[in-house]
Amino acid sequence: MQARAGERMSDTGFRIMSAFFRIQDLIWPPDRLLDQIGIRERMTVVDYGCGPGRYIAGASRRVGRTGRLYAVDIHELAIEAVVRRVREERLINVVPVLARGYDSGLPAGTADLVYALDMFHMIRDPSAFLGELHRIIKPGGVLVIDDGHQPREVTLKKIRASGLWVVEHETAAFLRCRPK
Ligand SMILES: C[S@@+](CC[C@H](N)C(=O)[O-])C[C@H]1O[C@@H](n2cnc3c(N)ncnc32)[C@H](O)[C@@H]1O
Repeated sequence: MQARAGERMSDTGFRIMSAFFRIQDLIWPPDRLLDQIGIRERMTVVDYGCGPGRYIAGASRRVGRTGRLYAVDIHELAIEAVVRRVREERLINVVPVLARGYDSGLPAGTADLVYALDMFHMIRDPSAFLGELHRIIKPGGVLVIDDGHQPREVTLKKIRASGLWVVEHETAAFLRCRPK
């Protein structure tokens, strides 16, 4: 299924967001959140909706040489930014992936852990989106998702309505889910 038009930001919007993130990351380094979500060495991890890739260096370090990180986004500028970071920071285990709609193109059962941060509020068809995350997670794998710019009860309602995930743990910053 294709993402509806509203989900792909304009190029200008994407550039403004990236500039904002650069400033924000100087104040609150993004790695602090990664310490809490349970990424471990040798895991295969998917950063879904990776944007300009502010989490990829930290996640890449955490999975180590024998792990892998897929950085997935629907925006071409996101993928260009990830490719630049991979080159500049010599990240050997990061694979950029341009998604089409709600299709990442990754094989079923790829990921030990998927994280989707600051993007769930943008998704017009949450069940289709959560269905794709469910398809790519391994049995017993973990989805870490945050609210983005929506209230917690809206996030929970969307997850429950999908019928695909069990919310196992909640913090103020994110929800940890397991596939049904
Ligand atoms: C606000 S940015 C957050 C980027 C990153 N997760 C972070 O926290 O720094 C949201 C990103 O989600 C991406 N996105 C929106 N809908 C998507 C979809 N259906 N599939 C993949 N990426 C999507 C956007 O293109 C954008 O890069």
